[in-house]
Formats: sequence, C-alpha cells, structure tokens
Amino acid sequence: MKTVGFVGWRGMVGSVLMNRMKEESDFNHFNAVFFSTSQAGEKAPVVIQDHQNLILQNAWDIEYLKSLDILVTCQGSTYTKFIYPRLRASGWTGYWIDTASYLRMHQDAVIVLDPVNKLVIERGINNGVKTFVGGNCTVSLMLMALGGLFNQNLIEWIFVSTYQAASGYGAKAIKELLVQIGQVYNTISDLLDDSNIPILEIERVITEFSKTNTISTDCFKKPLIGNVLPWIGEECVEYKGQSREEWKGQLETNKILNTSKLILIDSLCVRVCSLRCHSQSLMIKLKKNLCLTEIENLIESHNNWVKVVSNQADISLGQLTPLSVSGTLRIAIGRLRKMNIGDEFISAFTVGDQLLWGAAEPIRRILNRLL
Ligand code: HSE
Repeated sequence: MKTVGFVGWRGMVGSVLMNRMKEESDFNHFNAVFFSTSQAGEKAPVVIQDHQNLILQNAWDIEYLKSLDILVTCQGSTYTKFIYPRLRASGWTGYWIDTASYLRMHQDAVIVLDPVNKLVIERGINNGVKTFVGGNCTVSLMLMALGGLFNQNLIEWIFVSTYQAASGYGAKAIKELLVQIGQVYNTISDLLDDSNIPILEIERVITEFSKTNTISTDCFKKPLIGNVLPWIGEECVEYKGQSREEWKGQLETNKILNTSKLILIDSLCVRVCSLRCHSQSLMIKLKKNLCLTEIENLIESHNNWVKVVSNQADISLGQLTPLSVSGTLRIAIGRLRKMNIGDEFISAFTVGDQLLWGAAEPIRRILNRLL
C-alpha cells in the first residue's frame, strides 16, 4: 500500500476533504500519515480503526516527507512555496497534490478537474507529471457547469459575473460575516419591536452603524452584511483594473482544457453574503446557433453532478440558490435562455459548493487515481 501524507487537513478545505474521504472510505486504500506545521507529536486524527495511536509528524521535516509516495496539502501557498522546491531539490519524485494556487500555472503541474479534463490528466500521468493542483473555485465550478459545451468546442467567449461566498476568503471570513449579522441585529432589535418606528429610520440606523469602525471588518475591510463587495483579491499586475480572481478565469480555463486556440473569458468578481456556494451569472457566445433543448441536453449529459434547472421562477428559487446547493456535490445551472441580442448568445446562472467541487473533490479524486 502507498503511504500518503496530509498537511493542512484541519483547515476548512482540509476538513471538507477529510469528511469526503471518510464518507467514501478512501482511507482503506493507503497508509495515511498526518502532519502539522505547529503541533508535531500530538495525536493524529482517527480516520479508520487501525489509526488509533498515530501521532502528528513535523510538516517541515524534509527527510520524513521524502519517505512519502504522495503528499496532499491544503496548507496554502506559503507552505507550498517553502517546502515544494526544497523537497523536489532533495530528489523526491513522489506525487504532490495541492489545493493552493501557487503551483497552478507551473509548467510541470496539471490542474485537476477530472470530469472535465480526464484526458489531460491521463496524458500528464503517462508523461511523468508528478504535481497536481486544484483549480480556482469559480473556474472549476463554471467548467463543471458548462463541460458539455466546452467538450463540443461550442464556446467562443464567456462573460462571467460572480457572486462569491464568504468561505472563499477562509473560515475567519465566514465568522466575520456572522458577527456582522449579529452586530447589525443588536443595533436595531429594539426598534424592530416598536411598530411606530418607520422602516427608513431603522435602515438609517443600520447604515450609520455599518459605516462606523465598530463593525468587524478585519477580513473584508468593509461590511459584507447589507452590502456587496465588487473586488476580490489583489489587483492584477499584468492588467490594470482587473483583479487576480478575474484574471484567473481565462488563464486557468485554457490550461485545464489544454486548448490550442484561446477561449476568451472575462469576468467581474463580486463578494456577496452567501456562506459557502459561489454563484455565477454567465453570458455565453456560442460558435453556432443551437436550440435550447440541445444546449440543455449537452450540458446535463456531460457529468453526473451537473443538473439543469428549468427556467421557471418557483423552480429557480427552489433549486438554483446557494442555500439549496450548499453541502452537496450538485452543480446547478439554470436561467438558460437565448438572449434577445442574438441567437448565438445564451444566458445562464450556475451555483456550486465552493468547498466541494470548488476545492476538495477534485483533490480526493486525483489522489484515488494516483494510488
Ligand atoms: N479566491 C476565491 C474566493 C476562493 O476568494 O472566493 C478560492 O478560489
């Protein structure tokens, strides 16, 4: 049996990965070693019965890491940046599987999303690629939703408007949003009980409070409650006026699909108050005029997780929302219709769990493939 090391298994993405692996009994197929960057020597998690007495190993110990067949890290780019070159320089030729972005565009790395790029992954494995990295969450979720159209080479370009969940900024950001909700409620709860107070007065109190320094904004820098934040991540160095989150859309999509002719993708990325599902509104220019039924069939038959939601109000509100998709592997896509600007233009809205298909699931699947 192969020996697989896990670093960053306790964080938010790491925990989702661990849960999925337990659900699917993945741990029965290899020997797991758990690492810690700060608590080596403490008790490791019990993932299967035989692992009762394991202890955490030191995630900085190159000699120990060298003994692994496969290393899976959800620790983030800082860890990868430090350890990866040193481990490779030590002569280690094992498989490195990573959720962090640092190595994504590295020429020796393949970005994994096997329902979409199985052939690219298989070619990589056959050619001796040893580094596999999960994609940016919005990119992976968009590709899972539109795989059927990409697969048939039907897409000329896409413009994406995102509605990204707090979880994309990490566990602390979800807490911050919840604290903000509580702070705002506490500010006006007395007023809400008094039917003589007009709603505009309550709104005024909330807005004034939200503009003070009292509201918690360590992560987002501005209140997310009662607000939307139209910028995610740093500004792109290469393209002024574009955020790095927006820049990744075209770059990663084309790398994942290994396209020979660039598929044009542009986006405007926005943070909203949902907890762990990213939503995306898409404007798609097709290469030819297809009927809507054909488009829906191509989309839905592409993979087991994408579900076309009928373009009706009650069904969209029931099945095409962050709330309805959260915690599931379902990739919902709906609001599909021909746009009135031309027959080759379609609109769509898609929702996916940013921690599952957006992060953990492609990682557990490549691990299983490499065992
Ligand atoms: N960068 C994404 C976000 C998360 O901020 O929502 C993961 O790719």
